[in-house]
Amino acid sequence: MKEEYISSAKIYDPMLYFALNPIRLTVLEELSQHKDSAILDLCCGTGNQLKLLSKNGFKNLHCLDLSESMLRVAKKGEHSIEIYFEDATKTSFDDDTFDIVMLSFAIHEKNRETQEKMLGEAYRILKENGTILIVDFSFDEKTTKLGRIGIDFIERIAGGEHYLNFKKYIANDGLTSLIKADKFELVKDSRKAFNGVTISTYQKI
Ligand SMILES: C[S@@+](CC[C@H](N)C(=O)[O-])C[C@H]1O[C@@H](n2cnc3c(N)ncnc32)[C@H](O)[C@@H]1O
Repeated sequence: MKEEYISSAKIYDPMLYFALNPIRLTVLEELSQHKDSAILDLCCGTGNQLKLLSKNGFKNLHCLDLSESMLRVAKKGEHSIEIYFEDATKTSFDDDTFDIVMLSFAIHEKNRETQEKMLGEAYRILKENGTILIVDFSFDEKTTKLGRIGIDFIERIAGGEHYLNFKKYIANDGLTSLIKADKFELVKDSRKAFNGVTISTYQKI
């Protein structure tokens, strides 16, 4: 895979701190009753979200990514997160391994085939009745103009395939059209970033 994050890995967290921190805190709050659960962050990047969970007493944390630059940042600091260099579309985990699988800002930048494979893999490695937590962009009537413009601006900077995939993702109604109703049932949908980001939890059926 072409390494998209080589130049941005070291500045990713500080650069996006003000945009991402309220979202990270909402995820922490949503998972607060699951401190003993086995949690996997697929496409974890710098591991920023799991580091926050680790600081708040979560013990059974795992994350994977295909970017060595992002994982170098993820390995820094005091934490006990298990970190893997793996492809989220075909992981080495057994079926029914995790209570919770997260995908945070990982779906919108991929083509449709990869998006479907990632969700299929999340489904496979989740335990029965397990939870998938997805954080990603979502544009609808609740999204403010400022939210749309700001998010489009950030994605434009990412550019190339990433931006094209984001545009297609939004045009295709985002998660709503991707999530298969016979596999996952929506439990909760919280909105952030001027209602341009959804933090959605689904239960595996
Ligand atoms: C926008 S970043 C999001 C990082 C993090 N989840 C967050 O919330 O900040 C997307 C991440 O997906 C990773 N990624 C892309 N394709 C992947 C794949 N097939 N398997 C694992 N990670 C992948 C990239 O390396 C990058 O770190």
